Amino acid sequence: MKFVKENENTDRYVDTVFSVVRAAKADPEGINATAGCLYNEEGKLFTYRSVYEQEKKITPIQRASYAASPAGNAGYVEAISRFVLEDKVNNHHVAMATPGGTGAIFAAMRMCLDEGDEILYPAISWGNYKVMASEMNLKVSTYDIYDLDDLFRKLDAIPSKVFLIVNSPCENPLGHSYSLEEWRRIKEKLVSLNREVVLLCDIAYIDYAGNDPKAFLELFNDIPDDLLVLIAASASKAFSYYGQRIGALIAIHNDPAFLDHFLNLSSRLARATWSNLSNAAMLNITEVLEHHNEEYREELMQAKEMLKKRTDLFIRQAEECGLKLYRFSDGFFVTIEMEDNETRDIFHQKLIEHHIYTIKVNRGIRVALCSLSLETVDGLAGKIKELM
Ligand SMILES: Cc1ncc(COP(=O)(O)O)c(C=O)c1O
Repeated sequence: MKFVKENENTDRYVDTVFSVVRAAKADPEGINATAGCLYNEEGKLFTYRSVYEQEKKITPIQRASYAASPAGNAGYVEAISRFVLEDKVNNHHVAMATPGGTGAIFAAMRMCLDEGDEILYPAISWGNYKVMASEMNLKVSTYDIYDLDDLFRKLDAIPSKVFLIVNSPCENPLGHSYSLEEWRRIKEKLVSLNREVVLLCDIAYIDYAGNDPKAFLELFNDIPDDLLVLIAASASKAFSYYGQRIGALIAIHNDPAFLDHFLNLSSRLARATWSNLSNAAMLNITEVLEHHNEEYREELMQAKEMLKKRTDLFIRQAEECGLKLYRFSDGFFVTIEMEDNETRDIFHQKLIEHHIYTIKVNRGIRVALCSLSLETVDGLAGKIKELM
């Protein structure tokens, strides 16, 4: 008996992240550097006052109601698009609401790719790209995010439609961010391919990056017709709204008729998959963006400062003790360089035995500084180096 469809990946699904998270939570002495969420200095999940004070005003009827349409409430879609794009994009664009950044990435893959098509994403990256690719029976190839020539070679090697994922700024897990000049080179390369190209920009952590992180969006005002730019945005990170499951997929293209077609596909996909999203969550974020934006921005600035103090301290101390990290620009995580995955597995286990919980990534160990207080970060690089 089989019951499930022919082309299903039947390997046992093991969520390596959630199992370490569980172990970390059960250890009263544990340093829990596993979570992909921002925590405050008291060790509690960081929440925005401007977001959660407004949420209290949502009525039971608003909570109980279905959202206005599968592609999301119009007010939310407009507000989140303005929030994400700011005034950078004057090319044509449309957007749909999605269950987090995950839903946006899933929708992009589902709408643009057939089984057997290929996607290209960073060799050290968020594990869920691979899970989604496997779920949709896609081929995968990877590139070194520090080496644009490697990326360009990989692009040249794809024989047909290109579907490229770029997770910048604040790449998970490396914390790498492309400069505007690098973005320019990436765009030029994509244009020079003279082929159908879908560029999916995963900007889940962009609100925590420094140095005008949205400047690259202006590059998409001048693109050829064979380039479709998709932006996957996450309210989980931007508003500490992880469990509420909202985000957005924004499509930028020269042709409004194509975008209308794309939005139609999006609506059908949403209806057939999650039907619609939390009405209350969309109403709340719309209210925050329209009427409490300044308060939110002030809190966001404080959150960014809190995070930067942690990453600055860890990186300085890592340099002092000779703990080798991948090059970091911004973001929630830093990653310790590992020669190979066998060494990584041994060392990761050793850290657990010494009550330090981290996440294994390809040729590295991710330390979620977003979830540790400055006091806990102080000296942690040295402790890790000693155990090495
Ligand atoms: C790189 C990256 N992209 C997207 C997401 C999506 O997050 P969510 O679905 O919670 O918005 C995450 C979450 O951890 C992430 O790390």
